[in-house]
Amino acid sequence: MAKKHLPTCLIFLVFLGFFSSSHVNAAAIKQEIPANAEFFNTKTRYQDADPFLRENILAINVSAVKPPAPACIPIHLTAIIRHGTRFPTAGNVEKIAILDKLVKSEAKGDLSYLPELKAWKNWYTQETAGHLTAAGRGDQIHLAKRLVKTFPTLLTKSNLLNKRVKFITSSVPRCINSTLAFQQGLKESLSIPGNLFRFSCRVHELKPVNDTLMRFFASCERLLVTVLNNKEAVVQVTLFEEGPEMSKVHQRLSDQLQIPYANITLGSVEAAYYLCAYEFSILGLVTPWCKLFDRAEAQVMDYAGDLGLYWKRGYGHEVNYMSSCVLFHNLFNRLETSINQFKSGQPVSEVVNVQVGHAETLIPLMTLLGLFKGKISLDANNFAENLHRPFNCSKNVPFAANLMAALWSCPDGFRLQFRVNENPVALPGLSYSPLYEEVKKLYADLLQGCNEEEVCRMSN
Ligand SMILES: *[C@@H]1O[C@H](CO)[C@@H](O)[C@H](O)[C@H]1NC(C)=O
Ligand SMILES: *[C@@H]1O[C@H](CO)[C@@H](O)[C@H](O)[C@H]1NC(C)=O
Ligand SMILES: *[C@@H]1O[C@H](CO)[C@@H](O)[C@H](O)[C@H]1NC(C)=O
Ligand SMILES: *[C@@H]1O[C@H](CO)[C@@H](O)[C@H](O)[C@H]1NC(C)=O
Ligand SMILES: *[C@@H]1O[C@H](CO)[C@@H](O)[C@H](O)[C@H]1NC(C)=O
Repeated sequence: MAKKHLPTCLIFLVFLGFFSSSHVNAAAIKQEIPANAEFFNTKTRYQDADPFLRENILAINVSAVKPPAPACIPIHLTAIIRHGTRFPTAGNVEKIAILDKLVKSEAKGDLSYLPELKAWKNWYTQETAGHLTAAGRGDQIHLAKRLVKTFPTLLTKSNLLNKRVKFITSSVPRCINSTLAFQQGLKESLSIPGNLFRFSCRVHELKPVNDTLMRFFASCERLLVTVLNNKEAVVQVTLFEEGPEMSKVHQRLSDQLQIPYANITLGSVEAAYYLCAYEFSILGLVTPWCKLFDRAEAQVMDYAGDLGLYWKRGYGHEVNYMSSCVLFHNLFNRLETSINQFKSGQPVSEVVNVQVGHAETLIPLMTLLGLFKGKISLDANNFAENLHRPFNCSKNVPFAANLMAALWSCPDGFRLQFRVNENPVALPGLSYSPLYEEVKKLYADLLQGCNEEEVCRMSN
């Protein structure tokens, strides 16, 4: 098994090196960006969720990464990271194929860029569906490099060589490849020679898989039965799809392409919208697909995305977020261990823990922590009231999205910072950088309970 893995692994490393060194020049060229780039929901590029990075992907916003106070020293960092930019998943590859055929055979009229739409070559295949892309490897390499700059005393060569930097990943190949790319970024930043990495790669040492942690949602029976496989639980999504805002978007697409409304499925509307996002995030190209939706329509498509995630992964149902208890406890156990080791003068055994998973990993945990909760729920009939909402997945859950917990030792005690996509977030009722004791008070009930087995079992 290990032997068989080696060649792919080596080829991969050579490729990574090539990609990241060639990127430096590319970064200097100012790129065209689609008008709707901030509304691509979970297909948003990381640097469009934080335009600070558009000019320089390795830039650090100094005021965003400050310690709680100048005298504090960081003692531990947990970073929970979504995989980088990926190819469309199998279902979306299918939707793209259907749309492409429909446009080529049925679209007519005087839309100026119709010939370009018809000439577009569909290059998405089932073979690469869901795979990490070269841009996605770049996402992770760049994130790793920024984190080395942000936490220079934690992400050190010595901590890495002495295995005080730990990795956990979902078993899904795009996550494993994201983990490898992140490690590549660390290796380049810290000038760690290739042989260490090859060695680690061969023995799988730096990428232990744990789906109990990173894919808790896939094994939670109550979540599967009562929400994910239950149409009633996500009825707001269906109602919105059939409602006035979505119908208007659907109708204008039908008018532009002069294809009867009934012949354009919702899947095709979705494919037409996200093709712009895929071509842009994967290839850096602004294609004619981007012209089919104006800003107001993009906001409707984005809302449809958030609505689905709200009911399937977020505040919509308690089991959605309670299923992340295992990850919650894993984080707080590690913080406790780090504090105890630090207090007793021992070296902290896990100085950094990097956990790579999915949007479905991050959203429930962010929700369990009480982040991005609006005053009103997301429903089919309150699109307008929710036009500016905290539950904004384009902003919070782009490719390579991350939730970080940074633990500091300060003169007045231990302090904990949460950051989302490298920017400060305040926990409900607390300031940014609260004392760790205050955080424990806030989550006292969860720390004592929040048992995922009880939460996920169907028989109670
Ligand atoms: C930098 O971070 C600070 C603090 O989070 C934030 O207020 C500011 O908007 C950020 N600057 C840019 C240019 O993104
Ligand atoms: C992972 O990377 C290897 C090596 O580059 C590549 O062959 C494989 O297709 C990638 N898999 C995914 C799912 O991204
Ligand atoms: C995965 O993580 C869970 C929760 O922390 C832990 O109980 C389990 O032992 C881990 N599994 C492996 C294979 O490491
Ligand atoms: C369009 O819809 C009509 C009515 O449902 C149907 O008869 C026709 O076959 C459809 N055409 C295409 C190209 O799907
Ligand atoms: C989500 O955040 C982006 C910035 O990344 C912003 O442009 C957009 O208006 C926000 N959307 C909502 C619905 O608040």
